[in-house]
Order: sequence, then structure tokens, then C-alpha cells
Amino acid sequence: MKVLLIGGTGLISTGIVHALHARGAALTVYNRGLTERRIGAVAQLTGDRNDFAAFERTIAAAGTWDVVIDMICFRPDQAESAVRAFAGRCGHFIFCSTVCTYGNTQTVVPTLETTPLAPHSAYGRDKAACEERFRRAHAERQLAVTIFRPSHTYGPGGNVINNVGWEPTFVDRLRQGRPIIVSGDGHGLWQSAYAEDVGLGFAHAAGRTRCFGETYNIVGDEVVTWDDYTRRTAAAIGAPPPRIVHLPSDFLLAVDRPRYAALEEIFRFHGVYSSAKLKRDVPEYRPAMPYEEGVRRTVAWMDQHQKIVSADRDPMEDRLVAAWEKFAGETVRAFGAQ
Ligand SMILES: NC(=O)c1ccc[n+]([C@@H]2O[C@H](COP(=O)([O-])OP(=O)(O)OC[C@H]3O[C@@H](n4cnc5c(N)ncnc54)[C@H](OP(=O)(O)O)[C@@H]3O)[C@@H](O)[C@H]2O)c1
Repeated sequence: MKVLLIGGTGLISTGIVHALHARGAALTVYNRGLTERRIGAVAQLTGDRNDFAAFERTIAAAGTWDVVIDMICFRPDQAESAVRAFAGRCGHFIFCSTVCTYGNTQTVVPTLETTPLAPHSAYGRDKAACEERFRRAHAERQLAVTIFRPSHTYGPGGNVINNVGWEPTFVDRLRQGRPIIVSGDGHGLWQSAYAEDVGLGFAHAAGRTRCFGETYNIVGDEVVTWDDYTRRTAAAIGAPPPRIVHLPSDFLLAVDRPRYAALEEIFRFHGVYSSAKLKRDVPEYRPAMPYEEGVRRTVAWMDQHQKIVSADRDPMEDRLVAAWEKFAGETVRAFGAQ
């Protein structure tokens, strides 16, 4: 099986490369050659997919593929270029979308693929528009398309998120035992997947006719509360039990909406999705990495690559916690509570 990955050296795509290797596929990756390679000796096409003319020329000259997996298509103009590049040149086209296409209006968990899309952010709206473009290419028989919607995916090459976003100080705050903000009452539900596990799903869908024309959520099996997530992350990396401080999402957004925008996009809601359809059609997809081991590997990679930012560089969380505790203490006293 001859496979081309657009991207190929990223967080999820590295896992796909490893799983396709294990399947014995003949692989080529297309990227700019800027991101560190963790994929060994894999054939490379070098270029920027945003230079559409050059990208489409390179693809036209490179021949045909059994499968193309596009990991870095975020906008409709990129999707349009991908259709021009690959129509008639590949047997199966896999587009990496996101669960952010669902938005945050779901009232039932887990979210199924049949849930209407109501994206909240520009990211989600653009991914939904790309999906639409690829679905049309499928209907018009230009490409045989499969759409994957990953949820939160982590692993070496990426970072460790926290409940209020992608704070690069999170790991250091845990290590130092500084207070950790969790929105709401900490009971919001969350689901994380390990990148190498997600890679298995993509790799075993590749070339499978049953997956043509289908859309799949691809998520981890475990569902945890954000409080659990925070405690388990701390324990996994040998940090002290975290002092979790619950703050209302509305309060955080009123203080600094841009900084806490991720709460509105997803983190203040339940982020729980079903992979049952994928497991039916691609039974090789069986998430295997225990969270604790996955997070240890991720943090080891972050340490090696100096990706962990000192908590001293960002006093915001400490200031917010102090302000909240002062306000809460005064309010409790004013109401005469014990
Ligand atoms: N991680 C998550 O939680 C999550 C959740 C939902 C969906 N997703 C989706 O997962 C996909 C990301 O996949 P990933 O994790 O493998 O990617 P990634 O870690 O973001 O890595 C990006 C890859 O694309 C290449 N690249 C970036 N810009 C390029 C350009 N202009 N032209 C050519 N190559 C370029 C990079 O190599 P060079 O730098 O060398 O070019 C690298 O190989 C996205 O579609 C995202 O929406 C991720």
C-alpha cells in the first residue's frame, strides 16, 4: 500500500507513520522539513502546502497513491487545493477534522457522528467547511473520502493541557504544588487519547473500502472528571497532590476572555464522544496506553525539549486564586457563616 501523509512528523501523524510502518505500507511524508522527525527513514517530499501552485505541481509530478492522509488541512482554500491535487491520483483520501465541528451545544453524551454540527469557533467552522468540501468531492466521485474527528490527543511531540487551556506552565505548577484552577465544580467530563493509539485508527482505516464515505470520532476510552484528570496527571509525574481551586467559568471569562477562550470552545462543557462506530469498522482501533504512562512519556519529551515554562513567568493564576479566596472569605464572613 502506497501512502502519502500531508504533515507526517507531527503529534498525531507520527503515530500514524509508526502504525503504517507496522502494516508494511510504503510511506512518503509531505512537509516543510521544519518539525523534528521522530519517524526514522521515511521518503520525504518537501514543500509548503500553502503555496498551492507549488504543492499541486509537486503532487502531480509524484504519481499516484493508494491512500493520502491530510493532517494539516484547516481551511476551505486548502481543501480546494487538496481536491485539485488528489482527484484522480489516489484510491482513498482521509481528512483529519476535529470534534470542535460539533461545537458546544450537545445535550447528550457521548456525542455521536450523527449529532448536527454547530461549531463555536473559527477553527471548528473552517474544519466543518473542509468536511463539506471533501464530502462533495466524494459524492462527485473525485475522491473516496473518510473523515476522522479526533478529540484531545496528547503524547511526545505535544504538551499536557489543563482545564483552562494550553497553559505552558501547568506541569511546573503541578511540580511546585501551586494552586491549579479547574472551572466549575471540577465535575466536567473529559476524554484524552494517546497519539500512538490514534495513529492505529487512521492506519488501519487506510484503504478499507468499508470506511469510504464515512465519518468517525476517534477518542480515548476513558472518561474522567477534570478534578480526576488534574489529580492523575500530578500523581503520574511524581508531583504532590494538587491544590485544586474551583472557579466559575463565567468569572474567568469576565476577567480575561481571550486567555480563557478555550473554556467557551470546549473545556467548560463535557468533552465526551463515542468511538463505537470506528471500533465496528476498524476493530484494530483499541486504545491501549494507560494515561499515567502516556503522560509520563509526554512530560519526559517536554523536559528534553525545554517545553515546560516556569510558573514564575506567569503570575496570573496565583493572582486570580488570591483574589477569589479573598472575595470568597469576605463574603462568607459577611453572611455570618462559620
Ligand atoms: N492534538 C489534538 O488534540 C487534536 C484534536 C483534534 C484534531 N486535531 C487535528 O490533528 C491535526 C494535526 O495533526 P498532527 O498532530 O500530526 O500535526 P502537528 O503536530 O500540528 O504537526 C504538523 C505537521 O504538519 C507539517 N506542516 C505544518 N505546516 C505545514 C505546511 N504549511 N506545509 C507542509 N507541512 C506542514 C509539520 O511539519 P513541518 O513543520 O516540517 O512542515 C508537521 O509534520 C490537525 O488537523 C488538527 O486539527 C488534533
